Amino acid sequence: MMQRSVVLIKPDGVERNLIGNIISCYEDNGLKVIHLKLMQATREIAEKHYSQHKGKDFYEELITFITRSPLCAIILQGEDVIARVRKINGATSPTDAEEGTIRHRYARSKTENCVHASDTLESANDEIKLWFSELKNIDELLNK
Ligand code: CMP
Repeated sequence: MMQRSVVLIKPDGVERNLIGNIISCYEDNGLKVIHLKLMQATREIAEKHYSQHKGKDFYEELITFITRSPLCAIILQGEDVIARVRKINGATSPTDAEEGTIRHRYARSKTENCVHASDTLESANDEIKLWFSELKNIDELLNK
């Protein structure tokens, strides 16, 4: 199924000049970048993005981290892109991530783990609306 997923190259990835290497991992797997921008997340957008983690012990650290400097927000498109991107990213923690994955290569901790990707079709739609609200053709980008 042709899908779209939101990927965030988090502040640690941008600070460490990893944007090109990370995007290559997706493009080399046949996934297409259809939108891309550099932006600094406000606390408001970060809180919406991570609302399901509110109250957890790592929540404040996560919000502080994701808002500390610019991130790169991307919409990727491809067949089964949601599952494929999660496989390319690897497990949340670098110690659990399989060899060859982005997080195995580049992540330094569970918080500073370089990338975020949508985990379901529903979260992809929510994240497209949250991170790319300015797009005029947003309805065409949502997963049906
Ligand atoms: P992400 O895919 O952006 O979605 C939720 C984030 O919470 C996750 O990546 C991690 O960066 C972070 N996270 C999840 N579990 C923990 C944890 N136990 N400690 C710190 N950060 C965590």
